[in-house]
Amino acid sequence: MRMDIDINNIIIKKMKKITNICCIGAGYVGGPTMAVIAQKCPEIEVNVVDINQQRINEWNNIDLDNLPIYEPGLKEVIAESRNRNLFFSTNVAKGIGEAEMIFISVNTPTKTYGKGKGMAADLKYIELCARQIAMVAKTDKIVVEKSTLPVRTAETIREILKNTGNGVNFQILSNPEFLAEGTAIADLYNADRVLIGGEQTSEGKIAMDALTEIYAHWLPRERILQTNVWSSELSKLTANAFLAQRISSINSLSALCEKTEANIEEVARAIGSDSRIGSKFLKSSVGFGGSCFQKDILNLVYICRNLGLNEVADYWEQVIIMNNYQKKRFADKIIATLFNTVSGKKIAFLGWAFKKDTNDTRETAAMYVADYLMDDLANIMVYDPKVKPEQMFADLNYLNTRNPEQNKAQLNTSTDPYDTSKDAHAIVILTEWDEFINYDWHKIFDSMMKPAFIFDGRNIMDREKLELIGFKYFGIGK
Ligand SMILES: NC(=O)c1ccc[n+]([C@@H]2O[C@H](COP(=O)([O-])OP(=O)(O)OC[C@H]3O[C@@H](n4cnc5c(N)ncnc54)[C@H](O)[C@@H]3O)[C@@H](O)[C@H]2O)c1
Repeated sequence: MRMDIDINNIIIKKMKKITNICCIGAGYVGGPTMAVIAQKCPEIEVNVVDINQQRINEWNNIDLDNLPIYEPGLKEVIAESRNRNLFFSTNVAKGIGEAEMIFISVNTPTKTYGKGKGMAADLKYIELCARQIAMVAKTDKIVVEKSTLPVRTAETIREILKNTGNGVNFQILSNPEFLAEGTAIADLYNADRVLIGGEQTSEGKIAMDALTEIYAHWLPRERILQTNVWSSELSKLTANAFLAQRISSINSLSALCEKTEANIEEVARAIGSDSRIGSKFLKSSVGFGGSCFQKDILNLVYICRNLGLNEVADYWEQVIIMNNYQKKRFADKIIATLFNTVSGKKIAFLGWAFKKDTNDTRETAAMYVADYLMDDLANIMVYDPKVKPEQMFADLNYLNTRNPEQNKAQLNTSTDPYDTSKDAHAIVILTEWDEFINYDWHKIFDSMMKPAFIFDGRNIMDREKLELIGFKYFGIGK
């Protein structure tokens, strides 16, 4: 601990310099975030721990093309720091014991049971972490909530840690992560802002400053904002709600465009060039997916309802309702266009990941569209450059609409987009992977059943070019 004495010698500010960090949870957030901290802070030892042995083995994989998650630029960061000051391990207790600062970066999925089922965040993994920290810690710790949590969760963690009876002092900080999958490394390198919420006491301030010093290794200090814990927790939930709301807003208008011959891309450009509105997150699509938007909004809705704010809850719930409508509407359009049935027809899916440049498929629109089409007895073949077939089947099985054997009978996968499209009645683009644009579309057209339909769920293709080849093209909102 360093003492900074100011010139008037009135305020004595203690500065805690962190040399050992532990991060619990080696997932899409814990892995990339800690890799960047280790890269930018070579004097700090960073231990990323997880109970999932396979995941840890994959993080330790010598073959950097087989890390457990795919993110552009990630393997280079890992190559630089792994086994220098960045370590991946299943020894959670050792990691906690040695650390001065512990990030909790475990999953907080929507509850699938009991009170709050289908709405509230399941905090059992968070609670387990807090209990393990309480059990293991022998020295003072700063505990950082990195996971996205309902407002006032820090209180729960504090309650658990306070009652250890072993004399250890804990400071709880909220430091939500704003990275987006697919651009995680760039987002971490150049974060718009870092939010650090802490107790408004001198000890809280010391803890917040210690974390600020870490980010200040590479980010300008004015982007590192210190707030109270509750504002920080709530800001993350609401940031996701606002982003998802923009997507649902533009998607709602895409339905109107299709009925009126307006073009959603022209409308988006027109409204996005108003500087008060801005152009980001106005891309119409088959609907948003990913592990966060839906779960965080449901959680927000749940909190509002619990607090008796029903109008507020209804307002945000509509964002989810609109997103579900968009996925269903897209599937219905495919069925209606293919002469009201896809039964026994081969439908080629290009893309399964919830967005490009990630292998994450949680809540991907692709699985819902597949599910609707399989209800109508379609035979689907999927190609995705980064998603493994077993993940696609796991997603379908998670929906639990039909048994695993039926899913296997109706869905096939391929590692070749041309093989995927061969003899297909329609191609459906579900992810905006750049490589799709440059395929040999003449060759694909020639190999398909006629009429050859293409449903562009991401509005990435050149409609004119495809129509000249002979495709019957359907985008979103045009
Ligand atoms: N994925 C994103 O883009 C993103 C962005 C911002 C915030 N978040 C939030 O960050 C949190 C983590 O998300 P994620 O996508 O990294 O999840 P993830 O599922 O990819 O990773 C979580 C990891 O935590 C591990 N874990 C769970 N309980 C554990 C325990 N008791 N001890 C040790 N390890 C344990 C799991 O095995 C898993 O590997 C969530 O709250 C999420 O909402 C995610």
